[in-house]
Amino acid sequence: MNESDSDVIVIRNLVKRFGEKMAVDHLDLNVHNGEIFGFLGPNGAGKTTTVRCISTLTDFDEGSVEICGHDTSKDPIAAKNCIGVIQQQVSLDKDLTIRENMISHAMYHDIRKDERSARIAELTEYFGLAEYLNKPVDSLSGGWKKRAAIVCAMLHDPEVLFLDEPTSGLDINARRLLWDIVKSLHKRGTTIFLTTHYIEEAEALCDRVGIIDHGKLIALEEPKTLCDSIGSIAVEYADGEKTLYRYFRNRQEAQDFASSLETESDIRIRKTSLEDVFVELTGRSAEAMR
Ligand SMILES: Nc1ncnc2c1ncn2[C@@H]1O[C@H](COP(=O)(O)OP(=O)(O)OP(=O)(O)O)[C@@H](O)[C@H]1O
Ligand SMILES: [Mg+2]
Repeated sequence: MNESDSDVIVIRNLVKRFGEKMAVDHLDLNVHNGEIFGFLGPNGAGKTTTVRCISTLTDFDEGSVEICGHDTSKDPIAAKNCIGVIQQQVSLDKDLTIRENMISHAMYHDIRKDERSARIAELTEYFGLAEYLNKPVDSLSGGWKKRAAIVCAMLHDPEVLFLDEPTSGLDINARRLLWDIVKSLHKRGTTIFLTTHYIEEAEALCDRVGIIDHGKLIALEEPKTLCDSIGSIAVEYADGEKTLYRYFRNRQEAQDFASSLETESDIRIRKTSLEDVFVELTGRSAEAMR
């Protein structure tokens, strides 16, 4: 298989600056066809900026991006037709109703009228939006606006779907619905590029995870491999008011360490989670920046 068969997103040396600020710092990344790719990072790390650059919503200063074989700088329309984007800040037209927003999205992607009606009906039903269809955007709460934005992004059945913090602000029902949708799209072969602050979301859904900090990719692996990279067994213990964490290759080493601690209370031995990896790596990269 050559690169264009296996990778639907190919990012090379991507740089995006805001004045002096390097929001995306020479990013190289390939996203494989059909995978759920999770993009994690602390606030301000550069996730949204990366998503906006690669999904053609904003231009960039250096580098190149290919989506489904289309260079986004040379052939943005072909690239746009392959992708759907659900932005962190919902971007519906406030002067229109929810239905009108959906129709305008469908028209943008040249979806035939009969297909458009069927697709709107199907997705509206799935997301429980029927009673809101004829209401103006601003009469909906944030979570319901987000559901409507998700429907808009999915109307043209894109090959690649970008979801920037899709579940922040959603209630538990809507979050579970979205997870189910992501899983069913994955089964149908859609490639998903997902940013999230919910580590359990990345653990539950993602085939591979990239961690970005200060605009740089600092890790890129399957979740389990990332956990193994810092030590698959964690020891959590109290030191005064603070909780400290140490990681070990196996349970025996972890138990030996736990036995060597002065205190016997508040010691927990457990599997390392993606959250541990996140805190370890971004903590280290923050140290390195000082
Ligand atoms: N339009 C802009 N003008 C100036 N600086 C910006 C702009 N957009 C983003 N930045 C800066 O670029 C950096 C990356 O921001 P970005 O929104 O991509 O981070 P993020 O990882 O998505 O954060 P969060 O988790 O808070 O959503 C931040 O320092 C931010 O302040
Ligand atoms: Mg963001």
